[in-house]
Amino acid sequence: MRFANDPDSFGLISKLLHWLTATAMVGLIWLGWYMVDLTYFDRWYNASLAFHKAFGVLVFLLGVTTLLWRLISASPAFVGTLKPWQRIAARAMHHALLLLVILIPFSGYIISTSAGKSVSFFGWFEIAPLFEVSGTLRDLAIEAHFYLAYTVGVLVVAHAAAALKHQFVDRDGTLARMLWR
Ligand code: HEM
Ligand code: HEM
Repeated sequence: MRFANDPDSFGLISKLLHWLTATAMVGLIWLGWYMVDLTYFDRWYNASLAFHKAFGVLVFLLGVTTLLWRLISASPAFVGTLKPWQRIAARAMHHALLLLVILIPFSGYIISTSAGKSVSFFGWFEIAPLFEVSGTLRDLAIEAHFYLAYTVGVLVVAHAAAALKHQFVDRDGTLARMLWR
């Protein structure tokens, strides 16, 4: 079993990081959208927000690990048949996705700690508020969290569509090397 990436394929660590992040992200967009419409009297009101925060922190940790792992084990070169504009688009998309994997949880952390409360990671440990959050910053964080979360949703659809098109229309092995090759 190969853990590291090689020049033309992803290793196990990158594959695990990618699919764990992708699953958690998609689940969090759905959970966020679902939970903001719950009322105080709903039995999931508190639990859904606690799960959302803890899974969001998990995504943040996965994002930081991905960044570090990319420094340790370079990502493979793009498949050889990609046109120059496709390489630029793919690189920009991957950077944007990674940036959002870090920024969205951070904005969530600002919202959640704005009243001085810490964030619980599945009851395992607490992340204390690191700085004071003014009302203006809280409002900004709420706006940012909302727009960035739905923006990443759109980007993920485009990213997944590109991966599927390359695998099944162009048949260049793009999805295969992130899954089974
Ligand atoms: C929130 C969800 C997702 C995020 C944040 C994400 C992020 C990323 C990032 C950062 C890379 C670059 C990896 C690297 O070079 O180290 C990547 C590659 C890739 N992703 Fe995703 N992804 C997501 C969802 C998906 C989905 C749903 C699919 C497929 C249906 C997919 C298919 C791929 C494939 C095939 C590659 C490899 C592209 C290549 O060969 O260079 N991703 N993704
Ligand atoms: C990548 C990770 C995350 C994603 C994709 C995400 C996504 C979302 C979405 C889609 C909403 C609903 C926005 C709306 O329709 O109004 C939301 C709300 C919220 N999220 Fe996240 N979230 C993430 C991480 C976090 C984290 C780490 C925290 C806190 C530590 C957090 C705290 C919140 C809070 C407090 C709300 C409610 C905001 C409000 O009252 O309008 N989120 N999130």
